[in-house]
Amino acid sequence: MIGIFDSGSGGLSVLREIIRILPKERYIYYADNAFCPYGEKTPGFIQDRGRAITDFLLGEGTDIIVVACNTATAAAISTLRAEYQVKFIGMEPAVKPAALSSESGVIGVLATSGTLKGSKYLNTKGLYEDDVIIEEHVGKGFVELVESGVLDGPIAEATVRESLQPLLDKGADRIVLGCTHYPFLRDVIQRIAGPDVQVIDPAPAVARHLLDVMRTEGLVREDGGPSLPDVRLVASGDPTPSRMLLDKIIKNEIIHA
Ligand code: DGL
Repeated sequence: MIGIFDSGSGGLSVLREIIRILPKERYIYYADNAFCPYGEKTPGFIQDRGRAITDFLLGEGTDIIVVACNTATAAAISTLRAEYQVKFIGMEPAVKPAALSSESGVIGVLATSGTLKGSKYLNTKGLYEDDVIIEEHVGKGFVELVESGVLDGPIAEATVRESLQPLLDKGADRIVLGCTHYPFLRDVIQRIAGPDVQVIDPAPAVARHLLDVMRTEGLVREDGGPSLPDVRLVASGDPTPSRMLLDKIIKNEIIHA
């Protein structure tokens, strides 16, 4: 069984990509929404949440854990890897594909402040900042929008514009979604950015990496598996927001290329 966690519903954008390539697996998704958002929390706090969630997921029989949260990956994945035997798959900020494909020479990164301050992001950024200008902005209020189920409309548009416009004004032609909640606002982001700007979500690459690791570890199911994605949802707070998004994902109502 594959365990996946996030501070709330954001990691469902990663689960959606994983289900596409591993539809027959069993999943348990843990939304830590009693403690959401993680964005401004200390690394120590997020590490403690990571331990509690890992203990729970292992107790339920999980074979591999996806940290479907950029902030938790930045704050806690190396600690978790040092303390547990189970394999952890984390999020990668998609700076590389953005930097390699940018024509304007300016890329924009939207993420939480925890992610932008983390050494994982800073190291990745360091590899490309001689080649392109990297502009960053916290997606202020984005997580709250997604957690309240507001994925489009005037409020979503005004909130997204406030954080996205500064990146566009600096000439960014690639926008990296550095938080797993943000892909749920992708339609709004793309509409504001316009057709010449490419919005990049690392989730498909993370899903492919998970598949590679599962193959290496011999964890891919050999039997038929369930005919519909088998996802158990657990939340530390009210499960309703994640339940609503998960139902849409399973019914294929939220699809992005
Ligand atoms: N979805 C998360 C991330 O990828 C966390 C957002 C938050 O809780 O602040 O960073």
